[in-house]
Amino acid sequence: MSDLAPLSDGSRRDAIIRVRDLVVGFRDRTILKGLNLDIRRGEILGFVGPSGQGKSVLTRTILGLVPKRSGQIEVFGEDMDGLTIARRRQIEQRWGVLFQQGALFSALTVKQNIQMPMREHLNLSERLLDEFARLKIEMVGLKPDAADKLPSELSGGMIKRAALARSLALDPEILFLDEPTSGLDPIGAGEFDELVATLKQTLGLTVFMVTHDLDSLYTACDRIAALGDGQIIAEGPIETMLASNHPWVRSYFHGKRGRAVVTAPRHAHA
Ligand SMILES: Nc1ncnc2c1ncn2[C@@H]1O[C@H](COP(=O)(O)OP(=O)(O)O)[C@@H](O)[C@H]1O
Ligand SMILES: [Mg+2]
Repeated sequence: MSDLAPLSDGSRRDAIIRVRDLVVGFRDRTILKGLNLDIRRGEILGFVGPSGQGKSVLTRTILGLVPKRSGQIEVFGEDMDGLTIARRRQIEQRWGVLFQQGALFSALTVKQNIQMPMREHLNLSERLLDEFARLKIEMVGLKPDAADKLPSELSGGMIKRAALARSLALDPEILFLDEPTSGLDPIGAGEFDELVATLKQTLGLTVFMVTHDLDSLYTACDRIAALGDGQIIAEGPIETMLASNHPWVRSYFHGKRGRAVVTAPRHAHA
């Protein structure tokens, strides 16, 4: 991609995450084939692509949960290779994750779920743990009485919000959201997108969001990157995607659903 500078150059300020020449595979299959991508500080970057292409694999590789074959991943200006365990743990505290199957622990209440990362990483009194959980619950737009509910007592939208609150537990700078609105109805999905956009504004978050939701791409994302055959096939604001000549990008953004969104943005009637 033309606007991607090599890792060795000095202009790093803008990118909070840099991925260069990333190759990831499983056994005899190569999933990511020399992928290059920047995630810029303060943006919501939407990540799209056909199912099974490696969107979750990229996310998990950046997070260090899937090994790479080659390439470089730089987070906060640090090469993720060769970090000490202590340093890695420090970096991990600066990101929050909401996985595709981002289930809460079903035996724990919302409050206990949110407090889990805090208990793991911080040494806080019970009073502070309760206070911080209360704040996170408020931040994601849940009512205070959600704190003591079990996941089974919540609607799908409330579960997503509670999982989001847990991913915000350690006040991260980057949020990874893997298809956060899948399974929600359009209005619930729209409200979730608005919440993410609001949190980005108020908390100064950088968000990497894997999504299939065209509405999210139009209303919540600052830029979009599309994955195809193991590489980024188009990257830029929505206008760039609409102007792309790549067949998959064209059909995705100009298909029936795409046009419906252009003429009737979801937030106008939600
Ligand atoms: N741990 C794994 N072992 C083997 N294959 C995997 C593993 N994780 C993902 N894959 C394969 O990698 C491909 C990309 O998966 P994924 O990133 O989940 O796709 P998506 O773009 O839908 O998120 C799929 O074919 C999947 O089966
Ligand atoms: Mg996936």
